[in-house]
Amino acid sequence: MNSGKAAPEGLELAVELLRSSYLPVVSTGAGMSRESGVRTFRGEEGYWREHRAEDLASLEGIRKDPVLVWEWYRERLGACEELIPHKGYEALYRLQEHSGRLPVVTQNVDGLHQKAGIRDVIELHGSLRTASCLAGCGAPPVRMEQGLFENMPPRCVCGSILRPDVVLFGEDLPEQALKRALRLAGRCDLMIVVGTSMVVYPAAALPMIALRSGARVIEINTVETPLSSLEGTLFLRGTAGSVLPELAKAVIRSC
Ligand code: OAD
Ligand code: ZN
Repeated sequence: MNSGKAAPEGLELAVELLRSSYLPVVSTGAGMSRESGVRTFRGEEGYWREHRAEDLASLEGIRKDPVLVWEWYRERLGACEELIPHKGYEALYRLQEHSGRLPVVTQNVDGLHQKAGIRDVIELHGSLRTASCLAGCGAPPVRMEQGLFENMPPRCVCGSILRPDVVLFGEDLPEQALKRALRLAGRCDLMIVVGTSMVVYPAAALPMIALRSGARVIEINTVETPLSSLEGTLFLRGTAGSVLPELAKAVIRSC
């Protein structure tokens, strides 16, 4: 992590782009949460190094071995409850306050944006806040908290197993969230993409749609992705927790 280092190359242009934008949108992935202590999915420390995604984050997996799957979500929930949003979240919060309107589309389910006070968060992959009946009996969603795990696997009032309200592999994304994200991607004039490897669709399509519609993209990541070298993308190398505060400071100061 390189917090404290000099401003990344391209920051001045990014400030210019953000200052002159009339409809900026932010899109975040697991890398946004890394400096708050959340593990990413891919890369050296990623979850998918140890686990097969299909075993843990799929309907098949939860039917086959619900205890294994729920142990994993219990661990993730436990870790998330302790988390404190890092300086990059604070910076996003300040940018949102400053610009008056800055919707944030996220693939993350950890609730950190909301914990930082950020509003208008569109959760493309659901959230760890609630769980619902796997059999779809119609009972209202249950709050996810440690008490839920006294008997494993947690069950619905109807006796069926519960499932976390996150998007599992092979499932469609929540319709309203996806619709809104696609609409914003087509209408925005600037998309700031933070900490995503750009391999999971449809989330990865959002900046592509934005570019195709004539918007500019600012990408913040520690490594380059398939988005980085596309025409219209300004790649800022660095961590979310270091680059976003630099950006916010410069944008707010220069007004
Ligand atoms: P990934 O784990 O695939 O990618 C994380 C990205 O963040 C990588 O490109 C890293 O280089 C970058 N990164 C790591 N640390 C960073 C930091 N401190 N600052 C900025 N960038 C950093 O995560 P996602 O792209 O979000 O889906 O993964 C997408 C989806 O794959 C997840 O939502 C999840 C997973 O399977 C579901 O569960 C449906
Ligand atoms: Zn039920």
